[in-house]
Amino acid sequence: MKFYLIKPLLLSLMLSAPAYGQSTVQQIGNVSTVNINGQQVNIKLDNAEAQVSVYTPSVIRVRIDRKKLADDFSYAVTGRPLVVKTTITQDDNQITVVTDSVRAVIQKKPFSVAFYTPEGKVISEDEKGLHTSWAGEAVTTYKKMQEWEHFVGLGEKTGPLDRKGSGYTNWNSDVFGYAATQDPLYSTIPFYIGIHHGLNYGLFLDNTYQTDFNFGASNNRFSSFGARGGEMNYYFIYHKKVADIINSYTWLTGKMPLPPLWSLGYQQNRYSYYPEAEVMRVARTLREKRIPADGITLDIHYMEAYKLFTWNKDRFPDPLKMNTELNKMGLRTTVIVDPGIKVEKGAGAYERGKNDGIYIKYPDGQPYTGQVWPGWCNFPDFTDPKGRAWWRKEVKFFAQSGVSGIWNDMNEIATWGQKMPDNVLFDYDGKKANHLQAHNVYGLQMIRASYEGAREQFKERPFLLTRSGYAGLQRYSALWTGDNRSEEDHMMAGVRLLNSLGLSGVAFSGMDVGGFTGNPTVGLYTRWMELGAFTPYFRNHTQLNSKSSEPWSYGEDVLDIARNYISLRYQLLPYLYSSFYEATQTGMPVMRSLAINYTHDPRIFDWQFQNQYEFGNGLMVAPFESTKEFGKIYFPAGKWYDFYNDATQAGGEDKIVQLNINKLPVYVRGGSIIPVQSLVQTTSQLPTDTLTVHIYHGNSANSFVYYEDDGKSYDHEKGGFYKREISFLPAKNQISFGKPEGKYKTHFKFIKLVLHGFDANNINVSGRASALTSSEYGWLTAAASTDPTGGAYQPEKCRVKYLVFNNEPNLININY
Ligand code: NOJ
Repeated sequence: MKFYLIKPLLLSLMLSAPAYGQSTVQQIGNVSTVNINGQQVNIKLDNAEAQVSVYTPSVIRVRIDRKKLADDFSYAVTGRPLVVKTTITQDDNQITVVTDSVRAVIQKKPFSVAFYTPEGKVISEDEKGLHTSWAGEAVTTYKKMQEWEHFVGLGEKTGPLDRKGSGYTNWNSDVFGYAATQDPLYSTIPFYIGIHHGLNYGLFLDNTYQTDFNFGASNNRFSSFGARGGEMNYYFIYHKKVADIINSYTWLTGKMPLPPLWSLGYQQNRYSYYPEAEVMRVARTLREKRIPADGITLDIHYMEAYKLFTWNKDRFPDPLKMNTELNKMGLRTTVIVDPGIKVEKGAGAYERGKNDGIYIKYPDGQPYTGQVWPGWCNFPDFTDPKGRAWWRKEVKFFAQSGVSGIWNDMNEIATWGQKMPDNVLFDYDGKKANHLQAHNVYGLQMIRASYEGAREQFKERPFLLTRSGYAGLQRYSALWTGDNRSEEDHMMAGVRLLNSLGLSGVAFSGMDVGGFTGNPTVGLYTRWMELGAFTPYFRNHTQLNSKSSEPWSYGEDVLDIARNYISLRYQLLPYLYSSFYEATQTGMPVMRSLAINYTHDPRIFDWQFQNQYEFGNGLMVAPFESTKEFGKIYFPAGKWYDFYNDATQAGGEDKIVQLNINKLPVYVRGGSIIPVQSLVQTTSQLPTDTLTVHIYHGNSANSFVYYEDDGKSYDHEKGGFYKREISFLPAKNQISFGKPEGKYKTHFKFIKLVLHGFDANNINVSGRASALTSSEYGWLTAAASTDPTGGAYQPEKCRVKYLVFNNEPNLININY
């Protein structure tokens, strides 16, 4: 066809084609007026309003909405803006907000935001052309994808450590037996860390609607974050170190409280242990087989027809007596709670809730009714102060039954059918919201009510566990990753889930060790138990009707290995408890992706090494599928010791190692300080009065804050703790135990200092010279002598030098 024939056709097509106007995508537009008010600048735009506020020198908040900005309200954020030295200036083209740490530049035509270091390097900038826009009710901000940018975090998200090239959605979902790559899962933490050009920043989108993140998925232009409703409301965090970003993020959303010591011990679960005789059989078997343990968890069958706040009296005739009996054996009981309250005339909890008017409802005032375990249920409105108050009172039921832990399940909300209607209404703390806005915070508000109830009703620190949550959930509860599968890739995906949670403020996390659905192979079960010992919350759990999953269920050899690793964890408790203390102070997770301390080493993002992590400050775990005979491990900068035999390895190198099902590859960084105790069978049992402190020689100075308290009361909040900084200063050939702080008297009368990799034969403790004793040290106390999958294995030992001295309550200087 000749062009002169096409031309009129094209023209008529162009004339009739709809214009891409405001109805499709609405761009943010230009700045019209600017009002600078101290640390805050309020901006009117063609199509919206914006507000930029300085929270700390490193945290800047950006709010944008097409309507007048609403009164400030957040379920996640508890940090209030500090008084910060801020300079805000403007000219015709831009507004500049400067603190000591960061410079935000807001372009006026159109409105766009960029963040720079004080030296002028770009940390993050809006994509020129896309900025912020709306498609329908959904608002999205587009940032330029920086060259070689990596993205980590975003909470409970499957996928690789580096999220570049992937997109994610936050909509809390009940995902039974989810695929190892599935998204979304149960909780929402819209916080990630971007890494490029030696810089790193955090970005937290505080919006409870469904949120969506794109880190260059299906595009090569931008990373973006957005929400299906509500305002664009994000916090930009800049620090030189990722650890400080996590600290600022947990300053904003709250630090975790110190958990009870028993909750760090081994927890035996199953869906479900009943009746009482079965619970006691499991408890006694743990003790008879010398498997250290601190908890037994009761799943839904403890209830009368799954009705909340009831005990099935046939199965559990006297719960208080049983729980007291368990306590005497050094075991604590955790019970499951679901939000669904069975609609049943005359039933106590249901009627009390109805009287208090606490159920979520449809716009016509009828309570929303959905089906869960007990049948048709109503659901408390945990976003209503009234609903939380009601739940807090009900929690007394557990206090009266001698329960120590509350496991919050199904709180996405999960209902059969998985389609809770959008028009269900929530109080949203007086702000009133529909399901679309309230869905993602329901779980968070449930654990808030459970935690506050337990704090009011329980005599001691409670343990709280949740499946669902929103940013800030660490203030109330530990989180586990729900219904995983007994498959090798699930174990590995689980490691990354926990590492990602740690990057996102949740230090207390765990997964169903052994896998929830299906039955693991002998090898997988064994490896998973080893790995579980190196996760913050160590719980073995399995589905209804699956094979038994207690440590003795897979034969004698597996039992030996499981006992070995559980026992190792119990010896590591002083190290672990101190690491949890650190999390309460700085938000630093217990399970640390290498992206925290080796952020700018590109090799840590390599898929071969992305599962490696640090467990506390010093130990590095290299998890591998149980089917692998060899594994490649990357050793980041520094000097590394093989945990089992002290063989050394230079940093900056990778190495292929032979794997053995009897041991999990663990390494120790040179310079590490690892306090341990003698083996106990439960945290209710006191260890011997010697604290063993392992120090690994290295070239860099290091320090470790040792923390101890009674492990159960709130006295630590009033100074009832014992805290001491232990330092290793290789340049001065010195080790020191600082002056202890706090009112608590340490249990340990003696210190056994165990030196790894030191040349010295003599040592000087507070001026007194002593000879070091040389001996063999084995971390695995009762090693299996055979390999359950065939082949021989001899437990390894390392050669160390040690000295025992009095644990003086003043500065102890040691020279070697
Ligand atoms: C779902 C939870 O994810 C699982 O751990 C539990 O066993 C079942 N609900 C039954 O309560």
